[in-house]
Amino acid sequence: MKTLIGPFAQILPMTGLSLKGALHDEQLTVIEKGGVVVENGEIIAIAGYKSLLQKYPDCEIAFQDTPLVLLPGFIDCHTHICYDGTRNRDYAMRIAGKSYLEIARAGGGIWDSVTKTRIADLVTLTENTVARANRHLKEGVTTIEVKSGYGLNLESELKMLRAIQQAGMHTPATLISTCLAAHMKPRDYTGSEEAYLQWILTELLPVIQQEQLSNRVDIFIEETAFSAKAAADFLQQAMQQGFVATVHADQFSAGGAEVAVNARALSADHLEASTEKEIALLANSDTVAVVLPGASLGLGMLYAPARRLLNAGACVAIASDWNPGSAPMGDLLVQAAVMSAAEKLSTAEVLAALTVRAAPALQLKDAGQLLAGYTADMQAYPTADYRDILYYQGKMKPALVWKKGVLV
Ligand code: NIG
Ligand code: FE
Repeated sequence: MKTLIGPFAQILPMTGLSLKGALHDEQLTVIEKGGVVVENGEIIAIAGYKSLLQKYPDCEIAFQDTPLVLLPGFIDCHTHICYDGTRNRDYAMRIAGKSYLEIARAGGGIWDSVTKTRIADLVTLTENTVARANRHLKEGVTTIEVKSGYGLNLESELKMLRAIQQAGMHTPATLISTCLAAHMKPRDYTGSEEAYLQWILTELLPVIQQEQLSNRVDIFIEETAFSAKAAADFLQQAMQQGFVATVHADQFSAGGAEVAVNARALSADHLEASTEKEIALLANSDTVAVVLPGASLGLGMLYAPARRLLNAGACVAIASDWNPGSAPMGDLLVQAAVMSAAEKLSTAEVLAALTVRAAPALQLKDAGQLLAGYTADMQAYPTADYRDILYYQGKMKPALVWKKGVLV
């Protein structure tokens, strides 16, 4: 049965936009008094409401009697929402001026979350992930990437990925998992970084493949994590094994984005420390430049150079990096809106970064735009003017969210 939803004061289908480079708001298609026809979770047609009424006279009608602006559901292409425990002590120390090293010495940092996640059981991790995914969904995020990386041994990495898989069956949101066993060399691993990465390749990834837990790998390239050289070898071998790649790159020091581009990774994420060299490399590649304002806000650091990336011609996506350490807030729209004011990103650039430009980072072919044949993942804001969405800096939340055509 077809359903005609509308009328909407405005529909922004996010179609017809270039995937790369700067965008002006005039380039946005805005359908005034629009409607959308949905069937079996898919968009059938999208156009003026009156014309759809005429064309589909037998449709069921889902009449909207208040002014709403309709957008595609957001895609959050970088999160770590599968974890247990808090890092509020880290945060309190950080805002009181303690350094990264002082916090690590006091038992904080990634390793603290590893310890807490290792002792959590599968059910707890699944429930935590479902709760966070459902909160995201209510806020208009209909597709969510979720990384492992707080297990860092066979048993616990598999536990995390199984929890993400289970969680995907208990939330309407689409979850896409990524193996981030290369988050850091675990403190209880006695070998070299190369040996640890080799262990991931030979012992962990085959099981992940066998159980179909993920087809994506990530690695944190940083002085405190893995070197560019070791990461390049790791990515090449993981890709030979059939995985696609993404990279935590240039967060504190530059170097990771170059590895990502050379490896033809789907995305290079963070980029706070990227220089003109990395910006040019990303702009001349198909690797999506994913900026993570939530991590800048959580760490009190500068934002990634999103403006310069766009001006150079890169495909820029914005993700939340929701994690217990550097980005505990997890509110994607607030983060994107706050960053846009600082970086001078247009509304078109921000909305594209949360939808159509985030889709290629996850190889999504039917999400991020409102287009016939695409999944009916949609959200509607309680306003008649789309500019209000960033104007209220993320405080205005969607009044309605549809996942596969069903209201959540
Ligand atoms: O993306 N950069 C490394 N990893 C995470 C933070 C993880 C943590 O602190 O728990 C990030 O910011
Ligand atoms: Fe991250």
